[in-house]
Amino acid sequence: MLPAMFYQIAICMLFCGFNFIVSSCHQTDILNILPNQVSSSSNFLFGTSSSCYQYEGAILSDGKGLNNWDVFTHEAGHIKDGSNGDVAVDHYNRYLEDIKLMEDMGVNGYRFSISWARILPKGTFGGVNMAGIEHYSKLIDALLQKGIQPLITLTHYDIPQELEERYGGWLSSRIQDDFSYYADICFKYFGDRVKYWTTINEPNLMAVRGYREGTYPPARCSGVFGNCSAGDSEREPFIAAHNMILSHAAAAGIYRTRYQKRQGGMIGISLDTQWYEPFSNSSEDIAATERARSFYVNWFLDPIILGRYPKEMVQILGSNLPDFSKNDLSKLSYGLDFIGINYYTAKYIKDCLYSACEHGNTWSEGSYFVTTEKDGVYIGQPTEVEWLFLYPQGMKKIVMYMKDRFKNTPMVITENGIAENDNLKPSIADTLNDIHRVNYMHSYLNSLANAITDGADVRGYFVWSLLDNFEWLDGYKLRFGLHYVNYTNLQRTPKLSATMYKQLIYNFKIQLETNTAQN
Ligand SMILES: *[C@@H]1O[C@H](CO)[C@@H](O)[C@H](O)[C@H]1NC(C)=O
Ligand SMILES: *[C@@H]1O[C@H](CO)[C@@H](O)[C@H](O)[C@H]1NC(C)=O
Ligand SMILES: *[C@@H]1O[C@H](CO)[C@@H](O)[C@H](O)[C@H]1NC(C)=O
Repeated sequence: MLPAMFYQIAICMLFCGFNFIVSSCHQTDILNILPNQVSSSSNFLFGTSSSCYQYEGAILSDGKGLNNWDVFTHEAGHIKDGSNGDVAVDHYNRYLEDIKLMEDMGVNGYRFSISWARILPKGTFGGVNMAGIEHYSKLIDALLQKGIQPLITLTHYDIPQELEERYGGWLSSRIQDDFSYYADICFKYFGDRVKYWTTINEPNLMAVRGYREGTYPPARCSGVFGNCSAGDSEREPFIAAHNMILSHAAAAGIYRTRYQKRQGGMIGISLDTQWYEPFSNSSEDIAATERARSFYVNWFLDPIILGRYPKEMVQILGSNLPDFSKNDLSKLSYGLDFIGINYYTAKYIKDCLYSACEHGNTWSEGSYFVTTEKDGVYIGQPTEVEWLFLYPQGMKKIVMYMKDRFKNTPMVITENGIAENDNLKPSIADTLNDIHRVNYMHSYLNSLANAITDGADVRGYFVWSLLDNFEWLDGYKLRFGLHYVNYTNLQRTPKLSATMYKQLIYNFKIQLETNTAQN
């Protein structure tokens, strides 16, 4: 059990504006008014997020084919601790136990991804694996039985290895047909019960890591960008991205024309976002900040929602940016129903186009310098995650930015979270007493509530992540879970944040009501 003191301090912090030292806080009263099922009282989705490669394990069970991450993690040198997702947290076999954990938290949503190679071991070059279909069907039913809405990601970085080998994966326009064939199968078998779909998780990160830096599969890059055996860092990211955009469009088209009317769900895409703050108020830095937004997030959302690439990209990249044909443009008209936002942290942006930067992003990256520090002060409090600085106000800012640019298209926060680092925090007691995560969620959720009060159409919030899991290049050393996983016996233990999630949801609703009353 967790020491009661931690629990009380955390509750106190939530309800006394963090002035728990000046203790006018009556914990017991607060515990008494805690409703049991706060989340069932509205349609707003509160949940946790996961992805197949980071969770499932069962690498070859029941006819699953190999995917790009299965192959990549088995090549030496890619993953810091030499680990892989062969077993991960064995969610494939333990999903019922994991749904029980969700039930205990009182949430009404669960975001997970389907393993493409589990459904289509060889993409369109082989048959449908019915055992894979059955697995996800059972998972969906078990969630719904507990009143938990599934939000399904069709691909969370993983593609069948066959497609990589046959035609170079995302670099080929053939992937559009493969992806839409796969999406169609998922809508057909699961869409009667699933009301929230996203096509691709973080295509912007995938394009950058896979084809510019070469740090994610297929590990392609060139020149100053990294040491890869092949690639073209200045062109390939845009080609891969173009195919991701059109794959989304093709899948959205299938959903909208063949399934949506009957099934009544929504389809979107999840982008990796960071809040970019100008380094100074110079017009150059302000323009560079807007350029950074265009070169990272608007790169995908502008074509999908507005039907064209952002003007900053067109100006700088010229013919390096692929064109949309007439046929592409008609596909793009299917757009999306909601924007999935993954938000964790913020960066400063400094111009490198009009003023020389000692080092900064190259022209093909938009010519700006990214930093987390100004005059020796960090943009937000550092955390145990190297790239994550606390910047809760950015939650409201990114949501309001999307609201203004995309005419208040509905939004879902598909990821937000923080980790403990085993290298810095080896004691399990410290990891379980994750007050830092409770505070993080509290402050980011308050910022989100303020955005909603100011008119943003946000439909849900999914914290990354339900369980500690395989954190890509960091292996198992970063623990993003609301539940601790012992990687020896795979036992799950709730952290303080898991037991507090109900309280955080309740607090979020109070914050919304208070805001409304004040307006
Ligand atoms: C590539 O490898 C060489 C030799 O190991 C090293 O000096 C260089 O810094 C590496 N370049 C990048 C971009 O990682
Ligand atoms: C830029 O100007 C705004 C509004 O005057 C101010 O709040 C902000 O602190 C300034 N930022 C910088 C980096 O000077
Ligand atoms: C994890 O499980 C193993 C095997 O049961 C056990 O020996 C170990 O103490 C556990 N570790 C923690 C941190 O609980």
